[in-house]
Amino acid sequence: MTRPRRLRRTPAIRDLFAETAVSRSRLVAPLFLTPTAGVVEDVGSMPGIRRYAPDTAVSAVGAHLDLGLRAFLLFGTPREKDQDGRSAADPEGPVPTTIRALREAFGDDVVVFADVCLCAYAAHGHCGVPDESGRIENDATLPLLADAALTYARAGADFVAPSDMMDGRVAALREALDAEGLADVGILSYAAKYASAYYGPFRDAADSTPSFGDRASYQMDPRNVREAVREILLDAEEGADAVMVKPALAYLDVLRAAREATRLPLAAYNVSGEYVMIKAASAAGALDEPRVVVENLSAMFRAGADLVVTYHAREAAERGWIP
Ligand code: PBG
Ligand code: ZN
Repeated sequence: MTRPRRLRRTPAIRDLFAETAVSRSRLVAPLFLTPTAGVVEDVGSMPGIRRYAPDTAVSAVGAHLDLGLRAFLLFGTPREKDQDGRSAADPEGPVPTTIRALREAFGDDVVVFADVCLCAYAAHGHCGVPDESGRIENDATLPLLADAALTYARAGADFVAPSDMMDGRVAALREALDAEGLADVGILSYAAKYASAYYGPFRDAADSTPSFGDRASYQMDPRNVREAVREILLDAEEGADAVMVKPALAYLDVLRAAREATRLPLAAYNVSGEYVMIKAASAAGALDEPRVVVENLSAMFRAGADLVVTYHAREAAERGWIP
């Protein structure tokens, strides 16, 4: 008789035949940065997550490296927001300053991704530049994004990660990087980024809530999947080195469709709302956190992700939930 249970008899047998592995080398830890030296503060909306300054980030990253976590996605908040988000390109801003410090301390032992967007830097809180009527102008936004990407690349980022969802941004960034002799700097595109309610806790962490309207005219409609494939193929054509689907858990079908549509490496972003749901349910005693975290991460890899950006990274590694 055919007995699938033979392959499930012992833990060693199950490990041997497992189709998917969650490992530290495939996780990216998000890092929130503020300009003020010495700061380490709790992010109120996200239990267990902290905001660092360029100096304190170095020790935090060192602790991650000791745990085998080597990749980081950097988000900054400026000292003061300006009208059009130009401070995203300030070489003295928290992100470039931290990148230089990390490079100095750890050389190529760290992989640095820098999120590229305007929303945390502009008073209006949108990812692009609004005109007088509040409409987000696509093409006027591109040079601002390119300037920010150049700043992070010059500071030593390995990859820039545009999260704005303007059309043509990957080509604009690629062209700017190549023109400035930064051909080795890669682009991880947030190719299929949905207008999701799961970003709520992050907007508190990055202080990036729009002051009017919403992001639905540039982020994707949660009802769509063919459109995600279209976005992914476009970004691949424009020169993305890797593409991302975001959020992850409610979009596993999108990850699977993306996996089948492109040969590029595929990332999943396990976003703030997904993290906070697990934290809240676990704190209430309703869920076994280690098991749920590993189950969720396994699902993202099983759906087709090669790497996962997740706020669970540090705790999962520290507590030995993952190999
Ligand atoms: C901003 C940005 C957002 C996230 C990453 N970059 C929020 C948004 O689009 O409102 C979400 C991350 C998360 O929720 O963990 N461009
Ligand atoms: Zn944004």
